[in-house]
Amino acid sequence: MSPIDGQPKGKNILSMTQFSASDIELYIDEARAADRLLRNQEDPSINLLPGKKLVAVMRQDSTRTALSMTTAMENLKGNKELISGQSGSAEGKGETIEDSWVAYACMAHVIGTRTPDAFGPLKAAKSIDTALQEGNLLWPVPIINLGDGTNEHPTQALSDLYTIHNKYTGFKGLKLTVVGDHERYRAHHSLIIGALTVGMEILTVETDVAPVPEYISEMGGSKITRGVDLDEAMREANILYIGRRPDEYEKKSSGDDEDYNPAEHRRNELLSQAYKSWHIDRARLQKMSLDAMVLHPRPRNGEMNQDCDADPRTHDIKQMINLVRMRMAILVGAFGKSIRQEIHSLPAKPPNK
Ligand code: CP
Repeated sequence: MSPIDGQPKGKNILSMTQFSASDIELYIDEARAADRLLRNQEDPSINLLPGKKLVAVMRQDSTRTALSMTTAMENLKGNKELISGQSGSAEGKGETIEDSWVAYACMAHVIGTRTPDAFGPLKAAKSIDTALQEGNLLWPVPIINLGDGTNEHPTQALSDLYTIHNKYTGFKGLKLTVVGDHERYRAHHSLIIGALTVGMEILTVETDVAPVPEYISEMGGSKITRGVDLDEAMREANILYIGRRPDEYEKKSSGDDEDYNPAEHRRNELLSQAYKSWHIDRARLQKMSLDAMVLHPRPRNGEMNQDCDADPRTHDIKQMINLVRMRMAILVGAFGKSIRQEIHSLPAKPPNK
């Protein structure tokens, strides 16, 4: 995994650990330029990626990520193909996943993928790199991790950091509370890594059955305070981030009885009690300052009451709107292009606070 190091062209995006604070700012600047473009023109497209093709291989369910990637590519005048699930692909005829990645790479300039297994996108990048090194591909095809099992969801984190930056015009002095299943919820991992990178302080609300992974806790050092009471954290934090209860891991995708995982089932039972005690409704939100922000990357699974939607602290719909902006930034970066450089003549508008 290469650091982005200000040069995203051709690089795989596999983990938030690849990003420095200035890399994150670079992507935020590009997303903000995309926002200006989308809000200043009737036709929100810009001719930056003509002839380039995105193949989005979503091997796990997705609404927001799949659609925002393909919409972002359309806005950049590129081509896109969405492959959802494994049914209909040649894997049904016994093709290995390694061979499938190379097949996709033969027909793409960039691949975005979500996999049920941790490090699936890294494995895809290795298969494609091997084919390239052996002289069997015409060009490198970067891989963008759109969520890999219980590991990471770096493009969601970049977009969420953009949403936070829009409201507070930076990250300085911000405290972020992250509540939920810290072991299996990948968006938490990427967000905490990114938030630490930009200097935020982290409070975690967690249980022993799904704790913050040790490597993230070590990364945070004194900047992360673990096991805080939710109501106390709400009073203290600027931002409350509550993730979905990820209860899908007790069954594999086939849904067959033999794929049932009793340990994950037990964990889900214990966690469902914890999620009940963490449930947020509008009355509970009043514990936070009026300038606070509540984020949920959605889909929701009962963590937040619908009555929170009308509270000015709740920004989860803005989070979804921002996904297209950040994924436009990610796609242009993969090709060494810049939206900022193209739109300097458009009038500036205030960000989506
Ligand atoms: N936030 C998110 O990743 O949503 P989807 O599962 O709908 O892509």
